[in-house]
Amino acid sequence: MIEFRYLRPEDAKAAAYIHAEGQPGTILTLLGHRFLVELYQAVCYSEWGEGIAAFENGEIIAQTAMAVSSAKFFAEFKWRHLWKVTLPVAFAILRQPKIISHVVEGWSYAAQTRSPEREGDVLFLGVKKDYLRQGVAPELVRHMFGWADSIGLKSANFMVEKRNRPIRWMISQLNDLHIAHEFEAYGRQMLFYKVPIARNLKEAQLPQGKSSAHVYPKES
Ligand SMILES: CC(C)(COP(=O)(O)OP(=O)(O)OC[C@H]1O[C@@H](n2cnc3c(N)ncnc32)[C@H](O)[C@@H]1OP(=O)(O)O)[C@@H](O)C(=O)NCCC(=O)NCCS
Repeated sequence: MIEFRYLRPEDAKAAAYIHAEGQPGTILTLLGHRFLVELYQAVCYSEWGEGIAAFENGEIIAQTAMAVSSAKFFAEFKWRHLWKVTLPVAFAILRQPKIISHVVEGWSYAAQTRSPEREGDVLFLGVKKDYLRQGVAPELVRHMFGWADSIGLKSANFMVEKRNRPIRWMISQLNDLHIAHEFEAYGRQMLFYKVPIARNLKEAQLPQGKSSAHVYPKES
C-alpha cells in the first residue's frame, strides 16, 4: 500500500535521488547531489517550503517539493543553507563552466515565477522510474492540494519545460488551469501554469504527519 506523508530532513537524500533521476541535465541536478540534499533539507526545515512523498514499504517512490513563497524560501536558502554547499557547487561549476549562466538565471528564480503571496510554486514533482504511469503523481498532487488548501494557498504554480509531455499531460487533467506566461530559461522553452486550489479539492487529501509550513490567516 502506498502512503503519503510530509518529507522529513532524513528523507532528503532519497528525495534528491528522485530529483536527479527525473530531471537529468537540468540546472539543479547539475549543481550536484550535495546541493540537492541541502535544498530538500531546506524544504523540510523552512516554513516557506514543504515536501510531500509517496512511500511503499518505507521507501520513497515519488516526491514533490513546494515553495509556499519562492521569494521568501530562496532568500532564506541563500543565507542559511547555500554556504554549506559552496565547495561542491564551486566544483560542479568548474567541471561544467557552461552552467554558470544558468546559475545566474536561477539566482532570481522568484523573479521568473512572479508568484504573489498565497501562490505556491512547485519546485519539483517526480516519480521513480519503476512506478511511472501508475497514477502515483496525480495521487501525490491530490495530497499537495489538500495540504495547500489547509495552509491558505490559492494557487499551485508549475514551471515546466514545454517539451516535457508527461507533466503537461498530468497538469492538463486538473481543473481551470491556465498558462500564465511562457519564456526561455536555462536554454529551454518553459511554460508557467497556474492551477487554482479551490477548483481542485474534490478528491484532495491531507498527507500523514504534520506540516511545518507557514499558515496564512483565513480570509473573510
Ligand atoms: C511527470 C510525472 C511526474 C508523471 O508521473 P506519473 O505518476 O507517471 O503520472 P501518470 O501515471 O498520470 O502518467 C501521466 C502520463 O504521462 C505520460 N507518461 C508518463 N511517463 C511516461 C513515459 N515514461 N513515457 C511516455 N509517456 C509517459 C503518459 O501519457 C501518462 O498517462 P497514461 O499512462 O494514461 O498514458 C513523471 O513522468 C515524472 O516523474 N517525470 C520526471 C520528473 C519531471 O519531469 N517532473 C516535472 C517537472 S518538475
